[in-house]
Amino acid sequence: MDEKVTLKIKRQQHSSKAHWEKFELPKEKGKSIVVCLQEIRDNPVTIDGKVTTPVIWECNCLEEMCGACIMMINGTPKQACSTLIDNIEGEEVIIEPLSKFPVITDLKVDRSSIYNSNYLINGWIETENNTENPVYDQCFKQLSDEVTQCISCGACYEVCPNYSSKAEFVGPALLPQLNRLINHPLGKPQKVARLKKVAGNGKIQCDSSKNCTEVCPKGIGITNYIMELKKELRNI
Ligand code: SF4
Ligand code: FES
Repeated sequence: MDEKVTLKIKRQQHSSKAHWEKFELPKEKGKSIVVCLQEIRDNPVTIDGKVTTPVIWECNCLEEMCGACIMMINGTPKQACSTLIDNIEGEEVIIEPLSKFPVITDLKVDRSSIYNSNYLINGWIETENNTENPVYDQCFKQLSDEVTQCISCGACYEVCPNYSSKAEFVGPALLPQLNRLINHPLGKPQKVARLKKVAGNGKIQCDSSKNCTEVCPKGIGITNYIMELKKELRNI
């Protein structure tokens, strides 16, 4: 008999009361969660035979490059496009939206706070009036290569015990980027001003749980970058 997998999916509109629906699908080798969701979209019928609405989720690149398809898969934030059902234990997969961001519909959440947080640190390099030719040393290149891998997926926010929409903490993903900006050859003149933006009032409230580093799909050493920033902050 063909193997089956059950997807138990949390359904919700904005902050309305959520409910769960179960779908049974063939368990095929190499099948990703996105492919499962596409099958449900094409045939939105629950395990009990009830016709329902297609499940809403976000995706774009389908190769773990855009961060859009992030969702909770059996309690862990993962990219649905690169998570294969063969690698999930058990016959039931529980799928929910991230809990630290407002739900729009079903598995689609509003992660705009991640992008907007760039304004907190002036997350860009001013090039106007700059005539210098920047020289990038090996150290900076390594740092830059690593932190620019960030796909703003939000996995690190989800698992951070200090981050919530109400907390002062600016969020883990922003801080490796801040490290890059203060070490950028053209960013050094604004180093102190940028650091002052995250100084005090719990804006960099990290207790080194390392959850963020463990869950980051791009292997960014977020906790180490936060520790380096804390050292820099002690020196301003
Ligand atoms: S730092 Fe890693 S986990 Fe956090 S948003 Fe960027 S890619 Fe996602
Ligand atoms: S669709 Fe882009 S990361 Fe999954």
